[in-house]
Amino acid sequence: MALKRKDLLGLRGLTREEIEEILTTAEKMKSILLSDVKKVSHLQGKSMVTLFYENSTRTRFSFEFAAKYLGAHTASVAVSSSSVAKGESLIDTGKTIQSMGVDVIVIRHPMSGAPHLLAKHVLASVINAGDGINEHPTQALLDMFTMKQKKGAIDGLKVAIIGDILHSRVARSNIWGLTTMGAEVRVAGPPTLMPPDIEKMGAKVFYRVEEAIRGADVVMGLRLQRERQQKGLLPSLREYMHLFGITEERIRLAKKDALIMHPGPVNRGVEISSDLVDGAQSVINEQVTNGVAIRMALLYLLTRRNHDAVH
Ligand code: CP
Repeated sequence: MALKRKDLLGLRGLTREEIEEILTTAEKMKSILLSDVKKVSHLQGKSMVTLFYENSTRTRFSFEFAAKYLGAHTASVAVSSSSVAKGESLIDTGKTIQSMGVDVIVIRHPMSGAPHLLAKHVLASVINAGDGINEHPTQALLDMFTMKQKKGAIDGLKVAIIGDILHSRVARSNIWGLTTMGAEVRVAGPPTLMPPDIEKMGAKVFYRVEEAIRGADVVMGLRLQRERQQKGLLPSLREYMHLFGITEERIRLAKKDALIMHPGPVNRGVEISSDLVDGAQSVINEQVTNGVAIRMALLYLLTRRNHDAVH
């Protein structure tokens, strides 16, 4: 098992076979993650650096734990106290990291396309941990892994993604990945937060949340990306919850056993009711666990392009 590509920059263009290979490998990685001794030597002698130009809890730490559980060396560049703060460019920063013998660079950046630029200039594998409003491929992979584990298959699922679609890299990666895997993707949110080209990606657009949720197998809330929003795109937060929030009443329109998902961090009572976050249908904490398994799988597959299969 191995991915033939050097980098994981997005789910756009990834084949169904590649996604299946990642999800199958993540199943094996999850059993390591859930074992008493979380330490194997699959990545012995390899090294990974996280380079985050934006804040993160889940993505950054799950990459660090994933690499450590597999036996790799890890380091984290604190952008604010590194030479980036002295004006060093992204390409120069990447080349500097690579010159220290690094095999994988995991990057989060506010500019769409930054990981693609870095990948062109370094021999190390580059993994996109979120670039602007473009993609967050490892989040969508962990979301799909969670759906597969809970529902048995992704093909044929009806997935409703609710909220700030315009600024959501999570929504875009999920649309690319889920449609490739045969799911029906519905998106709903305020018209001011709905990108005009979203239907071309294969999603069905709804402006009433109730219609998107009706009969859904999965309901996924999104964080309001207030740091990327211009003023005037939203009414008050209270009005937003009233019109577009995921509430107990709206969830009753979905299938009885529908999963409630959210990439986090959650604004409780704004995007989704606090009780639903902690309720029986919520798999939000499991998404976090699965994020470590997916990142273990990706690190393994990208660094083993010429090696044997995982046992
Ligand atoms: N879902 C997600 O990307 O969370 P973090 O910003 O905490 O990494």
